[in-house]
Amino acid sequence: MGRCLVPRLPALPVCLAVIQLLSLCSAEFAVVGPPEPILAMVGEDADLPCHLSPNMSAENMELMWVRRSPRQVVHVYAHGQEDTPAEEFRGRTSIIREDVTAGKAALRIRNVSVSDSGIYQCYFQDGDFYAKAQVELQVAALGSDPHIDMTGSEAGGIRVNCTSAGWHPQPQIQWRDARGQSLPSEAASAAADRQGFYAASASVILEGGSGEGVSCVIRNPLLGQERSARLSIPGAFFRDTQPWVVLLPLTLVLHAVLLLCVICFLWRRWKRIQAAFQERGREHELREKQRGQSCSGTGSEAPKGGQGPGSDHVSCPGPASQPLLATNRIYSEFGQEVPESS
Ligand SMILES: *[C@@H]1O[C@H](CO)[C@@H](O)[C@H](O)[C@H]1NC(C)=O
Ligand SMILES: *[C@@H]1O[C@H](CO)[C@@H](O)[C@H](O)[C@H]1NC(C)=O
Ligand SMILES: *[C@@H]1O[C@H](CO)[C@@H](O)[C@H](O)[C@H]1NC(C)=O
Repeated sequence: MGRCLVPRLPALPVCLAVIQLLSLCSAEFAVVGPPEPILAMVGEDADLPCHLSPNMSAENMELMWVRRSPRQVVHVYAHGQEDTPAEEFRGRTSIIREDVTAGKAALRIRNVSVSDSGIYQCYFQDGDFYAKAQVELQVAALGSDPHIDMTGSEAGGIRVNCTSAGWHPQPQIQWRDARGQSLPSEAASAAADRQGFYAASASVILEGGSGEGVSCVIRNPLLGQERSARLSIPGAFFRDTQPWVVLLPLTLVLHAVLLLCVICFLWRRWKRIQAAFQERGREHELREKQRGQSCSGTGSEAPKGGQGPGSDHVSCPGPASQPLLATNRIYSEFGQEVPESS
């Protein structure tokens, strides 16, 4: 406003000139952008607002949003017409003029992508005068839920790898124990992919007892939001990874099988001995019975050769002699003494 010092001059033409000057002065304004960067999520819409200062209408002004790097005119509003010269923004931008009478306007970008992030400038032009302000757009993406892989046993523990993709900007990845303390891990950082997304991975070696309730936490520093996955490996799992622990049950099983074989063998042997004894018992009974039948019951018919009742073998020959031989055979098979044929 320094230029608008009104000199006290009495002449009418001078007065008119002054009025003209004043109207020019009134057209001067400043444009103000948001003090903080605008934060948008990938796929969402973002509004980049600017307003005039002092409070005045921008209804008849030309509005333009320009991207600083790469430098390109994103969107223009002039005399009721809109244009989007930048190819990559075509069909995605419009100017919000709802509060234009209050000197406010915003560039709306739909379906924001990582590549849209950067610094923009908004221009408000009234006749020959224009002013501009700066708006920063930050684009963020929350990646996928962490995926946990066990990649094998290593250095007395189990190596566990946590991975997640689709982050922007580059996330912070961390393994934490059950108490939330950070565990030393090996983080691998990769460059962003074509769409500007980052993948993150970190692996840690969990030893016996340290596998209970560990978690992998991935944080977006821009959003202050996290995604995490919890993992619990029971202590017993670690003991199983020691080779001797695997062999121990195996040897126990082998021993049990061996023992069973021995018991089985002894049992069968015992059964056979028992069977032999029973046979012998039956033998004996049979013999007793036959003796009773042939020597006493049928004795009245049989004796013809004048043999006396005192001698068993001679008086009762036939049926008894054969089973006795069988019994002898069984006994001799076991290397035992053939029982006396009483
Ligand atoms: C700006 O002017 C509009 C009317 O043109 C009014 O509604 C609004 O409250 C004003 N804002 C400020 C901050 O003075
Ligand atoms: C949003 O943009 C991505 C590319 O950045 C595209 O693949 C997707 O189809 C777009 N979604 C909509 C709803 O336009
Ligand atoms: C963890 O997984 C990622 C992605 O599959 C891989 O790039 C990285 O090398 C793995 N880290 C280890 C230690 O295996």
